[in-house]
Amino acid sequence: MKVHVANHPLISHKITVLRDERTDSPTFRLLVSELVTLLAYEATRDVRTKSISIKTPVTSTTGLVMADPQPVVVPILRAGLGMLDGMTKLLPTAQVGFLGMVRDEETLQASTYANRLPEDLSGRQVFVLDPMLATGGTLIAACQYLIERGANEITAICLLAAPEGIKALEEGIKNSGVPITLVTGALDEKLNEKGYIVPGLGDAGDRLYGVV
Ligand code: URA
Repeated sequence: MKVHVANHPLISHKITVLRDERTDSPTFRLLVSELVTLLAYEATRDVRTKSISIKTPVTSTTGLVMADPQPVVVPILRAGLGMLDGMTKLLPTAQVGFLGMVRDEETLQASTYANRLPEDLSGRQVFVLDPMLATGGTLIAACQYLIERGANEITAICLLAAPEGIKALEEGIKNSGVPITLVTGALDEKLNEKGYIVPGLGDAGDRLYGVV
């Protein structure tokens, strides 16, 4: 698995404001969207392209455009939804599928409660959006689900990742034969006993949408 930890002052600045408990939901949502656009720039470095001929006002030339089939973007509900518009800003022609996963706060096990995805993802490049890579349970389950449907390249975009989650994800998908890349805004220190990332930013879904 390739792991890319963003190293950019603008990303660090925005993450620091996200972490701050005084940051309100409207500001939090705006910053998440901006951060995802910055992370998406890195995450789409290997997006598939094809060559086409065009005419400029000056001459004929060839250029690159995104190849079909277009990538599929999959936000993991609920918190991944807060990352969607930042991603589609950069990839407006991508298809969007939805995966609802919930983590049992006692066992920390993830399960799927909803999906709205193309049935056949054969040969598709898939970008999974999940803000927090904590225990890795949700992302492992999501990758397994997408691989079963034929995805043959997966890039996960997270705002924060814990070392425990990266290790678990690496272990969990190592026999899948599908290349997985993780792009994260920061690599945090550890998980606490409740499975929260430390120093982290708290519950990303609650910070985005308020406690329900
Ligand atoms: N999910 C969150 O929203 N925050 C964490 O710290 C861990 C999992």
